[in-house]
Amino acid sequence: MLNLANIESAARDVLGQSSYDYYASGAADELTLRWNVERLQELRLRPRVLRDVSTLDTSVELLGRRHALPLLLAPTANHRLAHPLAEIATARGASLSGVGMVLSNGSNTAIREVAVALGSAQALWFQLYVQPDRALTRDIIWHAEAGGAEALVITVDSPVDGSRNRQARSGWRLPEGTGHPNYLGRKQRRSVVNLEEVRPLKCTWEDLEWMKGTTRLPMLLKGILNPDDAELALRHGADGVIVSNHGGRVLDTVPAAIDALPAVVERVAGRAPVIFDSGIRRGSDVLKALACGARAALVGRPYLYGLAVGGAEGVEHVIRILRQELRLAMALTGCRAVGDLDRSFLW
Ligand code: FNR
Ligand code: LAC
Repeated sequence: MLNLANIESAARDVLGQSSYDYYASGAADELTLRWNVERLQELRLRPRVLRDVSTLDTSVELLGRRHALPLLLAPTANHRLAHPLAEIATARGASLSGVGMVLSNGSNTAIREVAVALGSAQALWFQLYVQPDRALTRDIIWHAEAGGAEALVITVDSPVDGSRNRQARSGWRLPEGTGHPNYLGRKQRRSVVNLEEVRPLKCTWEDLEWMKGTTRLPMLLKGILNPDDAELALRHGADGVIVSNHGGRVLDTVPAAIDALPAVVERVAGRAPVIFDSGIRRGSDVLKALACGARAALVGRPYLYGLAVGGAEGVEHVIRILRQELRLAMALTGCRAVGDLDRSFLW
């Protein structure tokens, strides 16, 4: 399995059609899903020669911690569909490969157990879906904090779930016994989406300010595409923003996330880290995102496929491939350290 596409094909067989469709699908016509990958592919690299690239530095600093790679595992729900050890196997894979992990609020394993499997050498961030019940939101935040989270990632792009036609058509259902312990056994409110009704959940800038007062953890907002929202995020106390369109799963026909990145980076202007996700499939994609101004990237589906094929070692293999491809792309573009990347590395 030489690249991430090979691993996806193998995962498709292991997962079966309906679980594969749950992981792979995007919203509606899946145009954004496709653009995410295509637009990264279309960016051309602009190499420099005869520079000393005999030692490469892929490390970055994020929220006060040094990361060996500019890469973390994106928050994705329901790892039990891919592997019986679910997020425990994912965390072991992250630990083996030296990357941090963002645990989804919709994970099947309690954060405390994930923290143990990950170990303290890697960063653990917790992704939160803000609940209409503030007491529950506050309890989830405290539980995450006590469970070892170093940062909160507040996902702000989905007041309603996207309508994933492919997933619906394949009849996907969450298997019996697949729990969500990071909702603390309390009733999780979900948006309502059916042909009769679309009822979104309420979460606004006010909720953010309130949350800021409940925790000492840094807060990153995930799902920012508009520079005006990036500005508001900083004004409301966010410690960073994640430019993402949720891997094309929420609102179809928003642009590829990579096309939204430069304007957000420009507006943030170094005041906070900008992280990128959606569509990373090669190490050279990581280099491109950093060249557009991201401090680091998250990868989503590819490691789920690795998890399905090989558990912790499958996750490790995915990261190893990305790492090797990133290092190759650095050497061949004349980039000694990822901190040196800028637009001059793009054609
Ligand atoms: C996601 N994503 C996601 N995001 C989030 O904030 N909370 C979540 O629970 C989930 N769950 C989830 C499940 C599955 C199956 C997928 C594929 C994605 C979105 C995820 O964090 C990330 O934004 C995308 O996966 C990035 O795109 P790529 O790398 O999959 O192209
Ligand atoms: C998803 C939700 C859980 O993308 O964020 O499936």
